[in-house]
Amino acid sequence: MEITLDTRPLVKIEAEALVTYLFEEVKSFSGALAELDAATGGTLSKLIASGELTGKMLETTLLHYPQGLAAQRLLVVGAGKKDKFGTAELRRLAGAAVRTLKSRQVKRVTFLASENDRSAAGAQAIVEGMILANFDSEKYKTDKKPGNEIMAAALAGWSESSRAEAALGLSRGRVIAESQNFARELGNEPSNRLTPRMLADRAAAMAREAGLAVEVFDEAKIAELKMGALLSVAQGSVEPPRMIIITYTPEKLNPGAPVLGLVGKAITFDTGGISIKPANDMEKMKYDMCGGAAMIGAMRAIAALKPSCKVIAVVPSSENMPGGRAQKPGDVQFSMAGKSIEVINTDAEGRLILADGIAYAKQLGCTHLVDAATLTGAVVVALGNVNIGVFGSDQTFTDQLLASGKAAGEKMWPLPVDDDYRENIKSGIADIQNVGSGKGGGAITAAMFLKEFTGDTPWIHLDIAGTAWQDDVKPWNAKGATGVAVRSLVDLAMKFGSNGSSAK
Ligand code: BES
Ligand code: ZN
Ligand code: ZN
Repeated sequence: MEITLDTRPLVKIEAEALVTYLFEEVKSFSGALAELDAATGGTLSKLIASGELTGKMLETTLLHYPQGLAAQRLLVVGAGKKDKFGTAELRRLAGAAVRTLKSRQVKRVTFLASENDRSAAGAQAIVEGMILANFDSEKYKTDKKPGNEIMAAALAGWSESSRAEAALGLSRGRVIAESQNFARELGNEPSNRLTPRMLADRAAAMAREAGLAVEVFDEAKIAELKMGALLSVAQGSVEPPRMIIITYTPEKLNPGAPVLGLVGKAITFDTGGISIKPANDMEKMKYDMCGGAAMIGAMRAIAALKPSCKVIAVVPSSENMPGGRAQKPGDVQFSMAGKSIEVINTDAEGRLILADGIAYAKQLGCTHLVDAATLTGAVVVALGNVNIGVFGSDQTFTDQLLASGKAAGEKMWPLPVDDDYRENIKSGIADIQNVGSGKGGGAITAAMFLKEFTGDTPWIHLDIAGTAWQDDVKPWNAKGATGVAVRSLVDLAMKFGSNGSSAK
């Protein structure tokens, strides 16, 4: 979708559809809405008076050939209560507009921002909302209708003097949303079309195009590095594992500057291994690489937005299969860090591959770590499909990420990292075991397991098992992989860099 700025007077805009929005319980119009109402001979006022137009969140009212306007359609989207409205609502609203119009074969839209939203952040949210909404995964449909998408969009409302703000938000929004869509594409791929080798190829192609350094380790190199935890998961499959490392280095790199490490779980299919999962819903486990996809997607945006800190993504990738060579419950493995692990349940494989990913990120010099993983069903029980579960070992760093989540419109909820839970992962035979022995708290014991490998490096774990996949279509986006965490991670990297200092 091509996106431009349109600073012409409203009534002169010749779009196929002009989009505006309206709060609940407005009594009188001002600004752009007043202008549109006047130009259309009071149509909006009349619709409000009749009760058809209420401004309720995401209500859509479509007017065809509105008199007095050059646009062929005027779409009015409800913005809900004014005091509850922020960039997150604006992003969704812009998305809902795009999906409403694209289902009606509209190809060109102009989105008119309200006075309050004419900032860089406002433009960014609108553009993100539109690009994310325009995404549909039709790749494997043989009867897909060609071009069922919005081809061109414009932002209106900004004046010539505020053009620079709008342009900044537009370009940021575009690169971030396109990167999130890249992560969604990967997440939607079936496991036969995205093995660890194929994921590595796609990540490497992206990195080369974006101007990032990339390295892919094959099973021989992984063995040489003694990544025994990753290898133990991969040994049950005929598909070999990969370790993907993507590095962004800023032009001016101060010695001793902090380095952000992004470690993502990329199990391209999780059968559970010998501790096999039930058949019901197992097909969804193709999404078990969404943590890795989020990191790869974030790197794509980071390459374009150029934060001032170095960022390294480390993505261990494997299948988790119950083949003849598969590891078995009770097996003991040695991780790269040297710690021994008793594998009680082969379905708790994400934490195994992350253990080696975290150890390697530290070896590469990362001073701060964030991992993202579809790690536990328990986080879905705790937080449903709304909030990412956040575990942090360093409050200052965690607060920065939570602030980025807010800014990016991705909901996150902190859960405890507490040494009392460590008891639950003590093993009788090895240093630790890969599942908690007590009842409940499965998302927490998983985090405690990961923490064992972080040492004193500030670290945040994002359990995205509940948020990386959407079962149903929403008014503002398609169902399937969500690309969650990409926006927050990019925001974090930008701020982490711009401070010129670490979180501490
Ligand atoms: N990929 C799953 C997490 C998952 C499970 C996501 C169910 C969505 C729904 C992970 O590898 C896993 O299987 N975790 C186990 C851990 C358990 C064996 C301690 C789980 O959560 O059931
Ligand atoms: Zn599993
Ligand atoms: Zn898994």
